[in-house]
Amino acid sequence: MKIDINNRADIISLVDTFYGRVEKDTIIGPIFTQVIRVDWAHHLPKMYDFWESVLFGKAIYKGNPMLTHFDIDKKASLKTDQFEAWKTLFFNTVDDLFEGENASTIKQKAQSIADLMHFKLNPPKPGTRIM
Ligand code: HEM
Repeated sequence: MKIDINNRADIISLVDTFYGRVEKDTIIGPIFTQVIRVDWAHHLPKMYDFWESVLFGKAIYKGNPMLTHFDIDKKASLKTDQFEAWKTLFFNTVDDLFEGENASTIKQKAQSIADLMHFKLNPPKPGTRIM
């Protein structure tokens, strides 16, 4: 029986496992390791704060993910394939490690943020029907 995501230690385990898989992913891994050359010692604690803020409503994350991803998008274009890869890895990591109400909530929140980010980075061209 898996446990739910209950505290920061659980968030740390989720984030560490997720980025361990991200690094090896053929679609988005190289963006982290070769294009941006992410400093993991800096990035991972930021992501613990981000998810603790999103899931538990603690205002500890200070940052602007949209601006960061606009910058990343200039160097490595973030399109449907990249977002699908990100979401699949995130959902599978949550499901492999946890189950329960918070596990469902974090997947829903990730989905909304990812979809919004995808939309803002790739706005429909004027005149394109989206509904
Ligand atoms: C195509 C999918 C994505 C890619 C390739 C990607 C890539 C990255 C990279 C390379 C960084 C590190 C930037 C740096 O250290 O300078 C980063 C930061 C970050 N990412 Fe993503 N990301 C993606 C989607 C997402 C999504 C869907 C979320 C949220 C649900 C997210 C949340 C964040 C946050 C909070 C940061 C830290 C921003 C900051 O405060 O500087 N990312 N991302």
